[in-house]
Amino acid sequence: MTAMTKKASFDGSPKSLAGSGRDFRSPPGSDFHSRTTPLSDWIEARKRDGVWSYGRSLASRPGAKASIKDANMKEFSGLNFGSQDYLNLSTHPEVVDAAIKAIQDYGVHSSGSGILMGNTDISIKLENAISDHLQATDTQLFPTGWGAGFGVVSGLVRPDDHVVLDVFAHSCLQEGAMASTKNVHRFRHLDNDDLRRVLSTIRASDTANAVMVITEGLFSMHADAPDLRTVQDLCHEFDATLVVDVAHDLGSTGPGGTGQIGIQGMVGKIDIVMGSFSKTFASNGGFVATKSRSLRNFIQVFASTTLFTNALSPSQAAAICASLSIVRSPEGERLRQSLASVSNHIHEHLKRHGLTVHGIGGPIAPVSVGNEAAGRLVCSLLPSNGILANLAEYPVVPKNDSRIRLQMMASHTEDDVSRLATTLRSAVDEANEVLQFRPGTVV
Ligand SMILES: Cc1ncc(COP(=O)(O)O)c(C=O)c1O
Repeated sequence: MTAMTKKASFDGSPKSLAGSGRDFRSPPGSDFHSRTTPLSDWIEARKRDGVWSYGRSLASRPGAKASIKDANMKEFSGLNFGSQDYLNLSTHPEVVDAAIKAIQDYGVHSSGSGILMGNTDISIKLENAISDHLQATDTQLFPTGWGAGFGVVSGLVRPDDHVVLDVFAHSCLQEGAMASTKNVHRFRHLDNDDLRRVLSTIRASDTANAVMVITEGLFSMHADAPDLRTVQDLCHEFDATLVVDVAHDLGSTGPGGTGQIGIQGMVGKIDIVMGSFSKTFASNGGFVATKSRSLRNFIQVFASTTLFTNALSPSQAAAICASLSIVRSPEGERLRQSLASVSNHIHEHLKRHGLTVHGIGGPIAPVSVGNEAAGRLVCSLLPSNGILANLAEYPVVPKNDSRIRLQMMASHTEDDVSRLATTLRSAVDEANEVLQFRPGTVV
């Protein structure tokens, strides 16, 4: 095992290793300034103590090797397992050329919402290409993936309707549900028996209102997938409509880049597919695709995150179109194979080093590294040892189960993975050593 280049130590305040953002979420008081100060003090203390691993910025392209600046503007270079560019399309020459041509043809700005002349023929081509890819008939674009998730729920759901979500569904879907109705129900993660229980309870007392069921193709913090056929069958049985968020798996996995829907033989069979372009398709943006023209028209008119906001810029739409063409080509297949083998190497190497890596493979590998204090120390040790990666801590993941959320790219090599594994193992060991000598630092 490689020793860390610098011996770990922690001379900061115990408060920086304790607590979570949730402790500060609902402060009392009549004044926004004074009630936001405790969170701010906590963040600034963590920055001073070098254990605030958020607010890092890229100082290079988001490749397998990259440079970042941390929140204190200190620069680090190393192997990058923290960017969302799974097939490296954001720097692919064809994607870059398409974006430049769109800027030359249309300027840099969409200059309107999609319904008020903000679309161009590139966006229309993109809508048709997404429909074709998913065997849908109608696609609605959104300027962000978050807006697509929030919009598909809030555009369709009315106060007497019900939304039933996998407990770990993304914030855009959870917040869309809570903004739309009081009838928000959650089922245990991936548990279709629990989903059946929730649906039958709802339908036992309410057959008059609509029910929307929401899950994800590949869960972003757990890297696991539901049994989509069973979920869709349950929706039909209980007169509910299914929405599947394919932000992380579409393009990066599955036959022809069709993600979990393709892997599970469900292309063209899901009621509503919602996704983001920001993980594999080299741009901000999102979409909702369906076989129902009436659903699409309703969303276009009532989803405020597309109606009352400017459309994707022409260069974004062009970058996504070019990315989708690559995703569907033999080159896309080769890139997915490389990504899949990086993912296999990650699981093998990390397990060999005694680390717990979650999920079924694919572009995300969350690795458990201990409680919140351990997670913060591990994540702060990695950059100076040549590894750039992000920390997921409670409440995004369970309490006392902080995770380094590794995100892979097709261009990572097995050598990169081997170095990642030894460095991560050493960081976990050093963090544990530090914490042994600091009793009382952990809540
Ligand atoms: C599952 C899931 N859905 C939706 C989104 C939102 O997409 P975007 O970041 O492109 O707005 C994300 C991104 O964090 C996500 O992980």
